[in-house]
Amino acid sequence: MKNKAIGIFDSGVGGLTVFKEIEKLLPDEDIIYFGDTARVPYGNKSKSTIIKFSTESILFLLKKKVKIIVVACNTASALSLDALSGMFSVPLIGVIEAGARKAIKATKNKKIAVVGTRSTINSKSYENAILKNEKKAKIYSKACPLFVPLVEEGILEGETTRGVVEMYLKSLKSTGADVIILGCTHYPLLKKQIASYLKGVYIVDSATEVALHAKEILAQNNILKLSKNKTGKREFYVSDEPKAFMGLARLFLKREIPLPKVVNNLQ
Ligand code: DGL
Repeated sequence: MKNKAIGIFDSGVGGLTVFKEIEKLLPDEDIIYFGDTARVPYGNKSKSTIIKFSTESILFLLKKKVKIIVVACNTASALSLDALSGMFSVPLIGVIEAGARKAIKATKNKKIAVVGTRSTINSKSYENAILKNEKKAKIYSKACPLFVPLVEEGILEGETTRGVVEMYLKSLKSTGADVIILGCTHYPLLKKQIASYLKGVYIVDSATEVALHAKEILAQNNILKLSKNKTGKREFYVSDEPKAFMGLARLFLKREIPLPKVVNNLQ
């Protein structure tokens, strides 16, 4: 079991922010990544659709015999994890609980801002996860749908990005929240701009938090890979456009990856 791979899935390329953090924290582990590029974006889709897509991604990863599945996509975590947890033979972990936990730890005034896709924000998943453990928290949420295309176009700084960041975060700034959760795979790439606009606000990167959570769960289940000084194997799969994925991977990982294999028979 220990030598099996960690499975990660996302709606597309954004989950590579989670892949990167897991790789950094657990370099020995083998990782299998699946990006559902044929059906991206998930961020404006309904709960039943997301549950269907997530189930198919999970079944694909289970066929690859992974030992744990990390739902890197915030939208998939927000809309499908409640329905799907406990249904499979391996631990299934998402980004919401880990991000919420960190935000509660980090806030001093119990005012927490959350940004994400429309579906994630409308689901109130972060809000519920925070309030479950910190009843006095005040949560201010904002959907930021233009952040994903900005990142995928590589427009990470400059006037346009500053303008979009200000447009979305202005109302959050005036709330006095001292913590903001980046509740979307793509947003860590805009961290610099967000930090410079929300000066002094603590930024919770759900990618970092879920990597720490994955390590915790692997250790608890006694399935952490033990070998040291070895780099694990990496496998990438997509449901469409492998070349485009490879190009964007360069932006997310700052290195080349091999051409992902295309999976045609998800459904
Ligand atoms: N991966 C999605 C998320 O984290 C963003 C991209 C999409 O909308 O599919 O919510």
